[in-house]
Amino acid sequence: MAVNNVKGTRDIIGEEANAFNYIENLLKQICELFAYNEVRPPVLEHTELFVRGVGESSDVVRKEMYTFLDKAERSVTLRPEFTAGIMRLIVQNKLLNTNELPFKAYYVGPVFRYERPQLGRYRQFSQFGVEAVGNNSPEIDVETIALAYTILTSLNLENVSIRINTLGDDESRENYKKALKAYFAQYLDQMCQDCHSRYELNPLRILDCKVPEDQKIVEGAPKMKDFLSENAKNRFNKVLALLDEMSIPYVVDDTLVRGLDYYSETVYEFHYTSSNGTNYGAIGAGGHYDKLVAEIGGPNAAGVGFSFGVDRLYSVLRDDNLLRGRMDNPVEIYVMPMGEIAKPLAMQVATELRVSGYRTDMCFEDVKLGNMFKRAERKGASFAVIIGENEVNNQEVIIKNMATQEQINCPVERLTCKVSELMGDECCDGECQCHHKEN
Ligand code: HAM
Repeated sequence: MAVNNVKGTRDIIGEEANAFNYIENLLKQICELFAYNEVRPPVLEHTELFVRGVGESSDVVRKEMYTFLDKAERSVTLRPEFTAGIMRLIVQNKLLNTNELPFKAYYVGPVFRYERPQLGRYRQFSQFGVEAVGNNSPEIDVETIALAYTILTSLNLENVSIRINTLGDDESRENYKKALKAYFAQYLDQMCQDCHSRYELNPLRILDCKVPEDQKIVEGAPKMKDFLSENAKNRFNKVLALLDEMSIPYVVDDTLVRGLDYYSETVYEFHYTSSNGTNYGAIGAGGHYDKLVAEIGGPNAAGVGFSFGVDRLYSVLRDDNLLRGRMDNPVEIYVMPMGEIAKPLAMQVATELRVSGYRTDMCFEDVKLGNMFKRAERKGASFAVIIGENEVNNQEVIIKNMATQEQINCPVERLTCKVSELMGDECCDGECQCHHKEN
């Protein structure tokens, strides 16, 4: 019996794999422009990291982690998100012991959550994100939003909706939690079992409850904005004023609380509905955290960051035809050996072309020349390089322009320069021996 993939995981192949590459490369380039550097934490961490970091009251920790005992009976977990692992990496490698703060990092890779698979929701998915740690200003919060907005507009997702809210400082949240407890106490016996535990662990989490009957009760709950301290209000107003200055559009959403426990002050989410009306859920989200670094055993340092769901970014880009023409990566040259005798030279020539920067493929099967041309066409090749017995004996090749059908003979040692010339590229500064301009 065949073995299939695990439920909630999927194979990313062909166009979709190309698109992931395109998205990830573009995001990396933009992060580099904003002076973020890549970090690569392991996929596997001690379970305690996420219990402490993401928080015991979050659904992620309570229900969704892939946790198991390794052979030495240690409890380990496949990361359900990056942020806690990045804080561990920062603390363990003492990356905050510098005057050059904030420490700014980006990351990309697979993340695992045992959720119910549905549209836009997988058990293994890919996140791309950033964290800026060691600075507590409204400006750094806004820099992360500006970075995310630059990414989204570079992907042509201008119609993104940026929802923003503040969870205030400790004092604001403590007062808000008390008010929520008082409010939900009257309804608790009508609410789901999960909400009973949420009520005890962290009443803020009740606001994320997905049960329709509970949502109606949630609608009438007190709002965070009415419990903000003066400091928290001022900080949030600064964030909004900076976004206005930078002409970054946003909507204040006072119901936004985020599902992970580490957030404080600014929180935000990116939403985008495809033009066909499909909504995959938030395409990205993030916010500020005050206590996470200390929670992991580091100094008192605040941070801010966001993660995009790459699978969801791909889905909206595909639905809205925003990938077309942006990630074409056709083979440029197709090498066609005619018979066994031509194969060694064909392999040598293909490697030389690749080393010179041309995306080159070769026909490995003994098929007729016409069939090889069809393959070259399907691959989108601009030129075919044909090698038969004569060419091997004369140490030359035939180069055929697939568009004009013109063909020329070329000595093997001049091939890469000739191809550069035909492609309209600069091949040399006149110092080499090819003399192609004279030929
Ligand atoms: P999050 O909201 O849990 O935040 O996830 C971020 C993004 O990952 C979501 O907006 C969504 O696009 C994607 N995502 C989440 N779950 C799934 C799923 N099951 N299938 C497909 N995509 C999914 C975090 O993970 C935080 N660490 C973000 C952050 C970084 N906060 C501060 N720094």
